[in-house]
Amino acid sequence: MHRPAIYPDLADKTVFITGGGSGIGAALTEGFAAQGARVAFVDIAEAPSRALVARLADSAGGAPLFIPCDIRDVAALKAAVERAGTEFGDVAVLMNNAANDQRHAVLEVTPDYWDERMAINQRPMFFAAQAAIPQMQRRGGGAIVNFGSISWRLGQGGMPAYTMAKAAVHGLTRGLARDFGPDRIRVNSLLPGWILTERQKELWLTPEADAERRKGQCLDLEIGPADVAEMAMFLASDAARAITAQEFIVDAGWA
Ligand SMILES: NC(=O)c1ccc[n+]([C@@H]2O[C@H](COP(=O)([O-])OP(=O)(O)OC[C@H]3O[C@@H](n4cnc5c(N)ncnc54)[C@H](O)[C@@H]3O)[C@@H](O)[C@H]2O)c1
Repeated sequence: MHRPAIYPDLADKTVFITGGGSGIGAALTEGFAAQGARVAFVDIAEAPSRALVARLADSAGGAPLFIPCDIRDVAALKAAVERAGTEFGDVAVLMNNAANDQRHAVLEVTPDYWDERMAINQRPMFFAAQAAIPQMQRRGGGAIVNFGSISWRLGQGGMPAYTMAKAAVHGLTRGLARDFGPDRIRVNSLLPGWILTERQKELWLTPEADAERRKGQCLDLEIGPADVAEMAMFLASDAARAITAQEFIVDAGWA
């Protein structure tokens, strides 16, 4: 059985996760809580988020703090980051994870739809960082992980408002890494491959798409949310103290 790596420096650190209630985000919440970190997360999915908190009540870091929040509301998102710092101590780790890969027909996209996609997939990463950085500066450093995607590297169609936002993630990563390196704040991009979460299985997994995935990957395995969490925890930990402004891909060798 696989046992996740343990990073003792993560114990007692405050970790803030967007979209931490289900999918990959739930594996992040669980993984960091198991390290002994104090985890606060925002999500719109209340039922799975509350169930996750109940399931993790006895984790090493104690019960995670779930703050219901739609990250399209920048003021609410920033207030949630503040609350995490007040309740658990200054935020040391930010996981910019939440996103939505809804498909869209290019010729039917309106400006309002476009803006709404950016309000989920792009804007919150910047403003969550803006809220967390002063806390990280106060505590003498921190780590930010921005979630990208291999979809744009594979040249996938059907969702340019998603793939554009995901391609832009690395520009944000590199810009912030440069500006806040002097504060010992590290910023990296993490690009999952095709992670077969419940949502992916329900919405997009067909026998044809799965065959393409298996043909594309060098490794014939199903990547799970925990595989992505392993990389995220490494990047958040002091083991990665010299690593910033980089892109890390967990895709079994596809992109
Ligand atoms: N699953 C994959 O195959 C895959 C592939 C490439 C990249 N990614 C990236 O990994 C990250 C996580 O993906 P996932 O597959 O776990 O997604 P998911 O849809 O399963 O989970 C996203 C979480 O964010 C929450 N969320 C969505 N919109 C929100 C909003 N407006 N406000 C607050 N919370 C909101 C959802 O409720 C959910 O809990 C995303 O950045 C995604 O782009 C995933």
